[in-house]
Amino acid sequence: MTESTDISLAAKVIKGGGLVAFPTETVYGLGADALNPEAVAKIFTEKERPSFDPLIVHIASLDEIPRLTIGKDDRVYTLAKRFWPGPLTIVLPKSDLVPDIVTSGLPTVGIRFPNNPIALALIKSSGCPLAAPSANKFGRISPTTAQHVRKQLPNVDCILDGGPSFVGIESTVIALNTDGFVILREGFITAEDLRTVLPASNYPVDNDNKLSSPGLLNSHYSPQKPIFIEGEDSQKSAKFLEKASFLRGAYLSFSGRAPGCYGVIEYLSKTGDLREAAVNLFGALHRLEDNYQVDFIVAEPVPQREIGIAIMDRLKKAAYKYKK
Ligand code: TXA
Ligand code: MG
Repeated sequence: MTESTDISLAAKVIKGGGLVAFPTETVYGLGADALNPEAVAKIFTEKERPSFDPLIVHIASLDEIPRLTIGKDDRVYTLAKRFWPGPLTIVLPKSDLVPDIVTSGLPTVGIRFPNNPIALALIKSSGCPLAAPSANKFGRISPTTAQHVRKQLPNVDCILDGGPSFVGIESTVIALNTDGFVILREGFITAEDLRTVLPASNYPVDNDNKLSSPGLLNSHYSPQKPIFIEGEDSQKSAKFLEKASFLRGAYLSFSGRAPGCYGVIEYLSKTGDLREAAVNLFGALHRLEDNYQVDFIVAEPVPQREIGIAIMDRLKKAAYKYKK
């Protein structure tokens, strides 16, 4: 593995059918040439990702849209003008150029134009769009630094270090219906933001699949130790917490509250700032996962508005397997 800031070296790895972990404004991605099925297959192996979960294709120019998708839809350009480059992924009907392995056999492809100079330079020097999921093992905590990537994916050919991601939470994934947009995964860009340029759809996404987006799985983003959301009690969590030694527990604080019974306090924010909390979320979960003095985590809920909706989505998915 090479860890570098050398984009031309990383582009060579991509052109040779290898994998490069690269920074984006949301989280780090694990990229391969999106048009090379063998290279894309390596992503699924390295991530231990089930083949039913499609990958997002990253572009650095709007000229790629007519190559990768079919059925010109002007709304894409309206959205692009307002939100790209930025943390929005638009699911569109795919062209034959996009290999089926990228989209897990779906007739649609998620397209994203990331807002990170290293990501854009890598796409441009590679000369191809990059298929890239978040650079973590399937189901585990997403990476917002090169160190997080190294922790979970030590065998990746090359990691480009671009410092910490400044958004900290994955892109919003949307699909377009005849009457407007549908959110498939909550992210930094909210329904309210999107409604400033397009109406929200009254209909669910037209798709035969039960999971309209595999990202809607209930369990995801999990640290390797139990995590609970304060106030969201279940029989399982009550049983666990009854016996737990709180000195070996960590409290993930959003408001600045620091209950004295916990051995460790980790702050997403000290003042209830949602954007600050989003930036800190995955880093805080990684630190608590790595901290051998911590056996379990209790997270303070955040208000379900603006990016708080996406933060709660991630926390609920992280806590899911410890609740049910
Ligand atoms: O911010 C991000 O989106 C990051 C950075 C690296 O770009 N990427 C990311 O990728 O989060 P990933 O694979 O971890 O999540 C992509 C989500 C998955 O939930 C996947 O199911 C959904 O997007 N998705 C991708 N293509 C889709 C499609 N054609 N239809 C429906 N959902 C799709
Ligand atoms: Mg992911």
